[in-house]
Amino acid sequence: MQSEIEQPGITPAVPRLEIRNLVRRFQGRAVVDNVSLRIMPGQVTCLLGPSGCGKSTTLRMIAGVEMQDSGEIWVDGKLVCDTVFRVPPERREIGLMFQDFALFPHLSVAGNVAFGLRGSKEEKRARVAELLDKVDLLQFIDGYPHQLSGGEQQRVALARALAPRPRIMLMDEPFSGLDNRLRDGIRDETLTLLKEEDTAVLLVTHEPDEAMRMADEIALMRDGRIVQQGAPYNVYTRPVDRASVAFFSDANVLRATVSGALAQTLFGQFLAPGVPDGTDVDIVFRPQHVRIDFDRAGNGPRPTPTDGVPARALVKRARFMGHESLVEFCMDFDGSVLKATVPNVFLPAEGTVMWLTVPRSRCFVFPT
Ligand SMILES: Nc1ncnc2c1ncn2[C@@H]1O[C@H](COP(=O)(O)OP(=O)(O)OP(=O)(O)O)[C@@H](O)[C@H]1O
Ligand SMILES: [Mg+2]
Repeated sequence: MQSEIEQPGITPAVPRLEIRNLVRRFQGRAVVDNVSLRIMPGQVTCLLGPSGCGKSTTLRMIAGVEMQDSGEIWVDGKLVCDTVFRVPPERREIGLMFQDFALFPHLSVAGNVAFGLRGSKEEKRARVAELLDKVDLLQFIDGYPHQLSGGEQQRVALARALAPRPRIMLMDEPFSGLDNRLRDGIRDETLTLLKEEDTAVLLVTHEPDEAMRMADEIALMRDGRIVQQGAPYNVYTRPVDRASVAFFSDANVLRATVSGALAQTLFGQFLAPGVPDGTDVDIVFRPQHVRIDFDRAGNGPRPTPTDGVPARALVKRARFMGHESLVEFCMDFDGSVLKATVPNVFLPAEGTVMWLTVPRSRCFVFPT
């Protein structure tokens, strides 16, 4: 538990949304297993993880449509729900945007956006117009959902969710129904709007790219637990285990056994401080960090302390992927296959001899 240090004249920051030790079991299995999160106003946190890891269940508990088995939900320092006390969903001031964001077909665009609003007719109309202007759809105010494209409907849904000024916005894969080009624009627009309104956002996604693009903080979830949490840069560059590396990109893995705090591999020795002798370790690195050198009369580049020892390899297959090329190598040492990516076009012929090195700083050593 983080403690807040009080300083004179500075009010300690209260999270807009805080969940503490949330647990939900189905048939005896904890699908959400002791999840805790704190989200500040204006902060976007992405709950990122593979299918079935418990993301939607977490969101449903916060929204109040699913009851937790234990744990607490706090909003602006006030208890909203524990196992005894419970504020009903409609009084939580939480906005929801889910994948199936269905607009009401029989209501006009204005009617849809005004749906959750209170106040006089004029006040409602003004707020509706303000939001439709922000999502650039003011000209459709008196139109109907069927007259709009998928992307336009999504923006109406966003305006509808934002209209009552929710303190918290829960979004469950809200952009997955959109095509790629449209999605980038709407994501960025959404983000700007949510920040302007100082809303705390919990966004669920299973796409690392989306999380990296949207999040101030990523909470990486697996089997009901948050395995790592932090700024996207930190989560990406300091993964906690092999699966966390592999979740964000392809991963190359070397297996080795530790002896004298060192792991011996085809790229030389890796430090494994504190790992007992005889422990098997995975040395994991991403394809974009593999360096490729041409063969110089049977030699590669000189070994260095930072890059280790070069290993001889034959090109197995090279493919152009658009923004990069993917080259698969068969390693001389043991016939294992390693992948490397190179920006732009790099398509060496099958069987070409090359030398690979991997900067030590780009390798992660994890006990298996
Ligand atoms: N009402 C329920 N009864 C029984 N099991 C459930 C129930 N709701 C969810 N589960 C199970 O809990 C697990 C987590 O489900 P959840 O919907 O939270 O996953 P998710 O991370 O949102 O996955 P996805 O990315 O596919 O949407 C799944 O194995 C699911 O089958
Ligand atoms: Mg889900």
